Amino acid sequence: MNILLLGSGGREHAMAWKIAQSPLCKYLYIAPGNPGTAECGQNVPIAVRDFNAQVDFCRENKVDLVVVGPEDPLVLGVVDHFAEHLPTVPVIGPPAEGAQLEGSKAFAKEFMQRHAIPTAAYRSFTVAEKAEGLAYLQQHDLPLVLKADGLAAGKGVLICQTLEEATEGFIAMLDGMFGDASSRVVVEAFLEGIELTVIVLTDGQSWKVLPPSKDYKRIGEGDTGLNTGGMGAVSPPPFATPAFMTTVEEQVIAPTIKGLRTDGIAYKGFLYFGLIKVGDAPFVIEYNCRMGDPETQVIMPRIFSDIIPLYLSVARGDLAEAEFETDPRAAATVVLASSGYPGSFEKGLEITGCEHLEDCMLFHAGTVSDDQGILYTNGGRVLALSCYGTDLPEALRNCYTNTARIYFGNRYFRRDIGWDVV
Ligand code: AMP
Ligand code: GLY
Repeated sequence: MNILLLGSGGREHAMAWKIAQSPLCKYLYIAPGNPGTAECGQNVPIAVRDFNAQVDFCRENKVDLVVVGPEDPLVLGVVDHFAEHLPTVPVIGPPAEGAQLEGSKAFAKEFMQRHAIPTAAYRSFTVAEKAEGLAYLQQHDLPLVLKADGLAAGKGVLICQTLEEATEGFIAMLDGMFGDASSRVVVEAFLEGIELTVIVLTDGQSWKVLPPSKDYKRIGEGDTGLNTGGMGAVSPPPFATPAFMTTVEEQVIAPTIKGLRTDGIAYKGFLYFGLIKVGDAPFVIEYNCRMGDPETQVIMPRIFSDIIPLYLSVARGDLAEAEFETDPRAAATVVLASSGYPGSFEKGLEITGCEHLEDCMLFHAGTVSDDQGILYTNGGRVLALSCYGTDLPEALRNCYTNTARIYFGNRYFRRDIGWDVV
């Protein structure tokens, strides 16, 4: 069968890598893709937001299935667009209404409250409610968390230690610190615990829990500095014990899937739970309507089963009967970034050494190649190196042996990925 994958990051390269291994895959197209996805299929120059062009492409090229990588097209309604204009081609992803779980923090918080899903206590405020919000901050415990309501590329969160910081941040957000995304601000209680990512694939009724992982969001070692998209990840995190994962399924996953059904949302696709483990209890800090990046770069390698039958089961709604096997090996990924990221950074620096990698999967994110196939940096997060190991320490050692083999100007990476959990 022919598949179109939307997106162009490291996540999409890992998704393309997995799809391309399936004997069921005839042609894989990636729109717009990157030099890495070009090794798994054919890149096509269609933007992730250009739904009309995607529908035309699927018609002309007999595409049987669309898989969506990033949140943007989902929040903008790519699934609804296909349902209206090309209903014979299933799209793996939720409709716009379901994508609101990621697209609006206030929507997500209301959803969790309505369906009794554990999350931090909160209130949300718009510009019109500024005075009320400021008064609410006055009597709130510290530290507290401010979140831009809308999509802010993982950057719209401020953790405030003092009332001054909270007041300043709150006003700045309502004044447009994150553009439209912060025209509504969620104020929530700070939770002290350890974070992890649990992603499920669901057909709206049943689900498969993908291998749990932990990503490292801050730019600096020891989890310091600005938030990024993610600088590395490991799977499985040792503290995600079977008992804890059972609790997550009972207290978080099951009520979320049931809640979506109750609310009349036909959610088919990936659903990402950003969790914080407080003692033995899981709390949801965020939902995403897609896979994580760089979590995908450790999760896809740990899915043993062919992914295409799983996608087809999601589309048909019989996922409960599908086979799902994970790879017992551990996996780790380290992101090689451009120094300066998540602020400004230089692009166009030559990347060398890819051919020297050993026992390592190389996933491209921000790269371009020229006519001769020479690679250059083209983004903040440039490459992700993923390795297996019999256990996490071995997977991490393999990653860090390989980081030394690849080079580009201004290369930066965290040397402490995974150290806190092994
Ligand atoms: P989010 O964009 O909601 O994932 O938040 C970004 C980061 O802020 C998370 O990865 C956490 O490290 C932190 N964070 C968000 N909400 C809370 C909370 N209620 N308590 C503690 N940390 C939080
Ligand atoms: N790595 C965090 C995310 O994809 O949202």
